[in-house]
Amino acid sequence: MREIEKLKNKVAELQNKLEKAEKVLEENYYLSDAAVQNPYMFTLPENGMPAKTVKTQIENNHELDFNFKLNTSSYVNVSFEKEENEIALMGLRVNLADQTVYPSSYKMHDSVVNMIANLWHCPKPADFDEYGVFAGAGTVGSTEACLLAGLALKFRWRKWFAKRNNLTEDNVMGERPNLVISSCYQAAWEKLFKYMDIEPRLISPSSSSFKIQAEQISDLVDDHTIGVVCIMGNHYGGQYDPVNEINSIVEEINREHDFQVGIHVDAASGGFIAPFQDDLPPWDFRLPNVLSISASGHKYGESVCGTGWVIWRERKDLSEHVAISVTYLGGKADSYTLNFSRPASGVYVQYYKLLRYGLSGYRQVCDNMMANAQHIRKSLSEMTVNGQARFVILDDGPRNCLPVVTAMLNPECDFTYDDIDLQHVLSQHHWYVSGYKMGIIDPITEEYRALFSDQDKDKTMFRIVVKNNLTRNMANNLIDSFKAAFELLDFVDFSSIHGANTSLLRHKDQKRLTNHC
Ligand SMILES: Cc1ncc(COP(=O)(O)O)c(C=O)c1O
Repeated sequence: MREIEKLKNKVAELQNKLEKAEKVLEENYYLSDAAVQNPYMFTLPENGMPAKTVKTQIENNHELDFNFKLNTSSYVNVSFEKEENEIALMGLRVNLADQTVYPSSYKMHDSVVNMIANLWHCPKPADFDEYGVFAGAGTVGSTEACLLAGLALKFRWRKWFAKRNNLTEDNVMGERPNLVISSCYQAAWEKLFKYMDIEPRLISPSSSSFKIQAEQISDLVDDHTIGVVCIMGNHYGGQYDPVNEINSIVEEINREHDFQVGIHVDAASGGFIAPFQDDLPPWDFRLPNVLSISASGHKYGESVCGTGWVIWRERKDLSEHVAISVTYLGGKADSYTLNFSRPASGVYVQYYKLLRYGLSGYRQVCDNMMANAQHIRKSLSEMTVNGQARFVILDDGPRNCLPVVTAMLNPECDFTYDDIDLQHVLSQHHWYVSGYKMGIIDPITEEYRALFSDQDKDKTMFRIVVKNNLTRNMANNLIDSFKAAFELLDFVDFSSIHGANTSLLRHKDQKRLTNHC
């Protein structure tokens, strides 16, 4: 008997030890086998792992990314207050598509739509009281917003074209409509061209402006044109297309040819910057031919990644073409999104930010970012080598554009390196500054072609997107990193590195490089 007791005690002792050992393993990833396993699983593991182990694994994978606060190539907001993190998590459990179950969350969505529509001077549509909300929607970033806006224009055109030519709408299905836009479009529009079978009519701006000139649209608009897109802050250099002037030309064209062409403003980045720039000519719904505007809530809207907004001037013959009517709790509502279920986090954080900042807060943040961008711009333009400026500044300067510094190495300096080499050397200082070629893959021919009317497609440039997290101290560190980078770049002869093979590689990289958003 005593032997059995002794054995039992021994087993309990061992069990205790085992539990302790397991706890140590659970608490310390580096004492477990996980530390020697490939974390990128190919098949599901047979058994689950302790929460702490998986979390550590994800944290370690995440560490291998670039530091998001030093990533100057992306427009997406990365700084959040503690309360924002908390409400973002709360929103993850709410499916916004379920308007019946989450009517109060959906009211916050509508409230955001109303605040943004007012910010962009949208006139109240005739049916406002029936809906209690402007015609608009929260989307997953600007891409979904652009797709919805493009589709509404396409269906509006289809109806108009059928009526004008005495055709049934079915007959018109065989007609390929077109959209006029700058070659500085972001990849979101390439999706519209490809997925929705719309011909892009591209205008290549000059590298001295990055903007389309209003009169350039005249030759491209015809009776198959669903609309003209004006980009309020192209992602390359942050310049604004002249919406005001394009509005006048569109009006003339419509009058002369009895067309119905309208404007969509792609204000992905400028939608929350332009309203706070006082001496900017009207660019929004104050212009009668502006039919819709979209913006990324997650860029200068300061919300979380995955937030976008689109507002239409009215429902009638516009947003109604892409609306699915839903009734909830006896009310009437439209669903505009391309997919259905989605978390409420973006809406929650957007609502939080609009209330937390107010107009004065957004203005202050905008002023700060423009000032820090100007500080970087000025410092770069003062850098010289052998008495010559190192850079040609390509952006629009300190006013009426996005807080972005875009430049190219001065071709007159005959450097052996280019802006992409500069990107790579800067990355040794932990900064991600994207350099890219001045070319795009043509959305129709798939050929690599020039982005600008006056620059070779293989020339390079770079951009620094200034966001709220890029404070003056960090800006000074970035400037010092540029200086340090040149100590290496000037010392090495890059001509041999730019041989045939590497240029092939760089061409392959091109699509990735220009798609930063
Ligand atoms: C002008 C423009 N349109 C559309 C987009 C796509 O935005 P998102 O990444 O929010 O889908 C971007 C992204 O940078 C952009 O700059």
